[in-house]
Amino acid sequence: MILGVNVDHVATVRQARKTFEPDPVMAATLAILGGADGITVHLREDRRHIQDRDLQLLREIVPVELNLEMAATDEMISIATRIRPDLVTIVPEKREELTTEGGLDLDAMDQRLRDAVKRLNVAGIPVSFFINPSISDVDISKDIGAQMVEIHTGHYANARGEKQQEELQKIKAAIERARLNGLKANAGHGLTYYNVKPIARIEGLRGLYIGHSIISRAVLVGIERAVREMKELMIKSQIQL
Ligand code: PXP
Repeated sequence: MILGVNVDHVATVRQARKTFEPDPVMAATLAILGGADGITVHLREDRRHIQDRDLQLLREIVPVELNLEMAATDEMISIATRIRPDLVTIVPEKREELTTEGGLDLDAMDQRLRDAVKRLNVAGIPVSFFINPSISDVDISKDIGAQMVEIHTGHYANARGEKQQEELQKIKAAIERARLNGLKANAGHGLTYYNVKPIARIEGLRGLYIGHSIISRAVLVGIERAVREMKELMIKSQIQL
């Protein structure tokens, strides 16, 4: 099973100051050294975190799967066909949301999705739909022409106890349905070091796409070293004086 690491939140920290650091491209390189099988970025319409320049550089340096999450808009489709990521995951996008809040509304977006899949496939890019864990959404994804689905694990992640078990069963059923339909099945959103195991155990799952929790942990495990390096620099500068 592959792990795709989403580096959007490295860019979120950079954009807080609109400076050059931390660079999501450097983060991607380090994530790959750590074993990431893929790198994911979401280029949002409002460019709140990942910038066009990040995507361009990532395409140049990422030797593993580069997965571009995007809305099915003309602007994004033309960027994708120019940059040529290894995979496009189509997600719903609302300006006011903090993060992707749910799976695609496949019925409402039917024609738009069909056009997007056609244009991306003609450019040689496979397409995945980010969908809620629902059997009928898997069937509709197949009918529209997606090559893969990513099952939304956000409700599972937010639920507790019995409700969480129910959500897990829905995810399992959706993945099994995808497999029967000949669709590759991934899962992601809200997965953490605490809730990932039952999802990672699901049979037939191609991969997991995880961002926030990994970047959050990276911040914490790196703080001691970062402070030590700054103190060392301060001490060295005094010796030089
Ligand atoms: N998959 C999709 C489709 C997403 O939109 C996101 C969030 O950008 C993720 C996975 C990763 O979610 P998280 O950051 O909660 O791990």
